[in-house]
Amino acid sequence: MTVVRTRVAIVGAGPAGLALSHLLAEAGIESIVLDRRSREEIEATIRAGILEQGTVELLDRIPGSRARSLGHRHDGIELKFGGESHRIDFQKLAGRSVWLYPQHEALKDLIAARLAGGQDLRFGVTVDGVFGEDTATPGVRGTNADGSPIEIIADFVVGADGSHSAVRKAIKTDNTQGYFREYPFAWYGILTEAAPSAPELIYSNSENGFALISQRSETVQRMYFQCDPNTDVNAQSEAELWDTLQARVPGTELIEGPIFQRDVLRFRSYVAAELRHGSVVLVGDAAHTVPPTGAKGMNLAIADVLLLNEALQDLLLRGSSAGIDAYAEAALRRIWKAQHFSWWMTSMLHLSPEAGEFDRLRQLGELRSVVDSEAGQRYLAEAYTGWPMQTSL
Ligand code: DHB
Repeated sequence: MTVVRTRVAIVGAGPAGLALSHLLAEAGIESIVLDRRSREEIEATIRAGILEQGTVELLDRIPGSRARSLGHRHDGIELKFGGESHRIDFQKLAGRSVWLYPQHEALKDLIAARLAGGQDLRFGVTVDGVFGEDTATPGVRGTNADGSPIEIIADFVVGADGSHSAVRKAIKTDNTQGYFREYPFAWYGILTEAAPSAPELIYSNSENGFALISQRSETVQRMYFQCDPNTDVNAQSEAELWDTLQARVPGTELIEGPIFQRDVLRFRSYVAAELRHGSVVLVGDAAHTVPPTGAKGMNLAIADVLLLNEALQDLLLRGSSAGIDAYAEAALRRIWKAQHFSWWMTSMLHLSPEAGEFDRLRQLGELRSVVDSEAGQRYLAEAYTGWPMQTSL
């Protein structure tokens, strides 16, 4: 049995856990980061690619971050519906931009920077439980990759371990389900070797269902279309996939190429009933999940971390619990705004299998209410590019 003592035990080496370990280290607070997965698995997981300006500014603090050099700035998006196409100009409406930089590239940067910075970062460690959550010396119990047991004793435990969080079980609440919503559709995602079909991302509400034309680089593109959640990822030929995508962006000619990756993404909205219990706290997907429309997942995780960093510095450097006592309420303000935005973009752009003629026409009325009004467009632009990050509690 290995027993290790640290100040903050961080479970999960995703964007939230790694970014938090960096900010704590900047403040001189030691932490240990654990993840069940291997480094290779983490670095190969395909996720969304849109970073808010505030997220890029946080990544600027990470030595060697390539977000600005490899990523691409996007100053707007194209909204398509009912045979119309409208550009939402982020710079004009919100004075901000977003960056297209795939999450797994950001993770490669974060892992390399933390290891170079001497971070105790352990892969292949499964967390079996949390103990001492009501005391000042909580900890986690786990199993190393070689099967041997490990115990980490800390001053605080952070669950940054994703939507299937093991740490969440230590948060005592009567409402164990939290707040939850499922959707009757999913996204079929592809990566293709082709040139970009358009200069900016296209979000398209079509009679055949939603499609999103996104990008990765000059030679690789990411595209999604709405599908049934039970879709078999291998059932369609490449030609059929292109026909489906093309039919959903009328007026745009898609540049086709070989499809080298396919996946089906499930849609869920979730917020945990409590984000903190005693000396245990949740951040990122462990605390909340959003549907992918609008790409808020990683950005929301970074927003949590900026707040929690302040709270933990208050506690561990100055002995004040004021910050940690205020964390959940402060984080939840942004979480519920982002939940609303992700739900709104989803419901406005997708064709629900249950929707009738009225719902369909109302949806087009909703889209027109957005594009015909500068206030409507500005709400979308402000939310998409991200509300200013809050760093003090
Ligand atoms: C991407 C994903 C999203 O959910 C989104 O809203 C925009 C872009 C992407 O993976 O590129």
